[in-house]
Amino acid sequence: MSSLIYIINGPNLNLLGQREPSIYGTHTLKDIENNCLEIAKKNNIKIKFLQSNAEHEIINWIHNAREDASGIIINPAAFSHTSIAILDALTLFEEHIIEVHISNIHKRESFRHNSYVSQKSTAVIAGFGIDGYKIALEKMINLCSN
Ligand code: DQA
Repeated sequence: MSSLIYIINGPNLNLLGQREPSIYGTHTLKDIENNCLEIAKKNNIKIKFLQSNAEHEIINWIHNAREDASGIIINPAAFSHTSIAILDALTLFEEHIIEVHISNIHKRESFRHNSYVSQKSTAVIAGFGIDGYKIALEKMINLCSN
């Protein structure tokens, strides 16, 4: 059976392409999904690409991942900075977690500098734009095959 990686996106990321393009660029979430699907195909793995604006839905997906995922890549968006509930859910997930941010959160407003999710992440990628997802997926595939 090939590995399954969840790629979970938080609030407002559905509007990538329209949302603050000077910060997040002009590519859409669909473009990111297509980039990830290409890497998945090349490496013979499966991905589940998800986005929600609702915290509870993200938590439920993390619970589901405990059943069938080899790793989670997550851009929790603004929930990174606020959600102990998402951190708690990730704590119950025993495989690798890679946190992605399109922008460099440390170069931005101070309220973005802390991410609760980082406490449980194997690695954090921030500031590489949408390429951060490609880097995360390549690295996750390496981690899962070790
Ligand atoms: C983000 C950074 C967060 O601070 C912000 O709330 C987002 C997107 C990023 O990908 O750069 O929604 O996670």
